[in-house]
Amino acid sequence: MLDVTKIRKDFPILNKDDGLIYLDSAATSLKPKKVIDAVLAYYQDYTANIHRGDYRLSLMASELYDKARENVADFVNVSATEIIFTSGSTASLNQVAYQFGLDILQAGDVILTTETEHASSILPWYQVAKKINAKIEYVPLNNEGLITIENFTKAMHDQVKIVVTTHVSNVLGHVNPIKELARITHDHDGYIVVDGAQAIPHMLIDLKDLDVDFYAFSGHKMLAPTGVGVLYGKRCWLDKMLPLFYGGGSNARFDKQGNITLKNTPEKFEAGTPSIEGVLGLSAAIDYLRDIGMDNVLMHEEELSKYLLTKLHELNNVIIYNPSVKSGIIALNVKNIFSQDVAAYLDHHHIAVRSGNHCAKILNNVIQVTDTIRCSLYIYNTKEDIDEFIRVLKDVTLEKCIDLII
Ligand code: ALA
Repeated sequence: MLDVTKIRKDFPILNKDDGLIYLDSAATSLKPKKVIDAVLAYYQDYTANIHRGDYRLSLMASELYDKARENVADFVNVSATEIIFTSGSTASLNQVAYQFGLDILQAGDVILTTETEHASSILPWYQVAKKINAKIEYVPLNNEGLITIENFTKAMHDQVKIVVTTHVSNVLGHVNPIKELARITHDHDGYIVVDGAQAIPHMLIDLKDLDVDFYAFSGHKMLAPTGVGVLYGKRCWLDKMLPLFYGGGSNARFDKQGNITLKNTPEKFEAGTPSIEGVLGLSAAIDYLRDIGMDNVLMHEEELSKYLLTKLHELNNVIIYNPSVKSGIIALNVKNIFSQDVAAYLDHHHIAVRSGNHCAKILNNVIQVTDTIRCSLYIYNTKEDIDEFIRVLKDVTLEKCIDLII
């Protein structure tokens, strides 16, 4: 069980007496003091570049950075050499598409994906497909936007070279059966690339057990700073892959004829000065989540999600698009009011939600609407947050939204 009262004390932004009800953690999470302190300590106590200095501060920063990589690797049960720090999921996923996809795909090959993908997951593959004349195919989803094993098995065939899928949909919150998808993909000699941005913050992820080829996530959705993310890749693929960026720190030597000897993975993928404070903040976030226990995180969110769905079902002015969801992401609309107007009305009552298409711009083919209000929960949310959200939602009318605008 989570002690939410204690947890909330750790988040400075929730202790300002401004009544903030934050229901937008799928966009970015709030940050606990432990993470903020880790970032501050780097700037206040040991600012130095890493792996480039033979003085105390640089050695200290380098050691903490290397330990952070081990911490991240341990959190997802893989080797530290398989963890590449990037600027976020978008950078991770683009890197796989351009540096792995372009290399192994041939004209006529199929990239199998879903209509629930976030732009960062699918757009790089559209580009790759165009460049080499590969085909994009979509797994038919059930009427709530879920991949079923049955549908996936039917959609799979021997021309599918790469499967691109989200682990948890950023709009509908459904958790896809990644382990089974990976097994089926590998049975067809394909590769599976997973966008884990909405999964990692909320459940224990064992990448070795999932047996995926690549997995991407961002720090900022899991209590860490913005500007840092992770690309996991199986060592055998990372060893073959060339980096997208070239520069300092990633090469062992080069000469004026342009011959470059790259370092091994992961260094060869991390040219230039990285987000050092981001990586240290990510490690602190992982420590924080580990202390709470990922099973407790998941249990708390599932309980809140169930409570929220029950309360939403009692309202007759609301449409829910993912009524069977178990995770803390719920997509809805208030009947006859544009989602952005409702979001502005909620904001007027200090409630933060995201509205619109949430960067998943082909999901309308599944849920038949382009815009929704997305409510996303995390460890610091309470039933009281939900009660207030429901109270305001029950009360909203088109006239009240218009009054706010004019
Ligand atoms: N990807 C983030 C979201 O779903 C920004 O809101």
